[in-house]
Amino acid sequence: MTRPAVAHTPAERRWTPEPGIPRAAGHADSPVAGHVLGTVSALQLYDEALAAHLSGLPLVEVLVWAAGGPPVALALHRWCAAADAADRVALDRLRAALPAHARVLDLGCGPGRHAAYQQGAGLAVLGVDSSLAAVALTRRAAAPALHADALGRLPGRGAWDGVLLLDGNVGMGGNPRRLLLQAADLLTPGGRVLVELDPDGVTDCRWLQLGDGGRVSAPFPWARLAVDALERAAAGSALVVTCCWSEHGRRFALLAPA
Ligand SMILES: C[S@@+](CC[C@H](N)C(=O)[O-])C[C@H]1O[C@@H](n2cnc3c(N)ncnc32)[C@H](O)[C@@H]1O
Repeated sequence: MTRPAVAHTPAERRWTPEPGIPRAAGHADSPVAGHVLGTVSALQLYDEALAAHLSGLPLVEVLVWAAGGPPVALALHRWCAAADAADRVALDRLRAALPAHARVLDLGCGPGRHAAYQQGAGLAVLGVDSSLAAVALTRRAAAPALHADALGRLPGRGAWDGVLLLDGNVGMGGNPRRLLLQAADLLTPGGRVLVELDPDGVTDCRWLQLGDGGRVSAPFPWARLAVDALERAAAGSALVVTCCWSEHGRRFALLAPA
């Protein structure tokens, strides 16, 4: 049987197992073992769901699962809604640590709820997302956004007062160390990174797949990072944890250049 052609995202192509991060149950070093092969990339499937929403259709259900695990609904409704109470507390804490009119980069901004909240509070925000529809939704939510890979070359190296990695986004690409290194590289010397951590205290890296009823995506890597693994993950990027807190069952941390 021939393998179907799969359009991989940059993160899918680039992923290598990260030293020191345990593999979750069902994890395989190969994106093929343990998975049904998908014929569509996760990015395409996600992007199409958001594009339909952008055109005025109700949000479709997109499922996500790890190999051998149960499917759960992707939180599209939450990402397309306004920032919630826990988000606002976290974003206000970040803002309190930054100068007035600070410049903030939202890595993996999705439909833009955090970017829009910060923009409304007087900060200069730029969302970054690999989904064109997410970028369009962010712009519609009144915040500028860039269609780019969060792990690739981004504008304003050393010029951003704040970097957001919210709602599990520290797991993008399956390599939190690399993402924190990227964030550190983008920050001003007095800047801060706002990171949301795994609420259940799990640190691992898994291959996930998306499904939308008819289709199954190719696997893509995604990590989870617990608070007790944060210092270690941040050490290579010369970031130090300045505070950690829980809010509405969620875990957040602020990091600053050492
Ligand atoms: C878990 S959603 C969170 C969205 C948003 N931060 C929120 O909380 O509402 C993750 C987002 O990251 C984006 N993403 C994943 N990998 C990415 C990458 N390598 N570069 C840019 N965006 C990426 C996805 O397209 C998606 O919009």
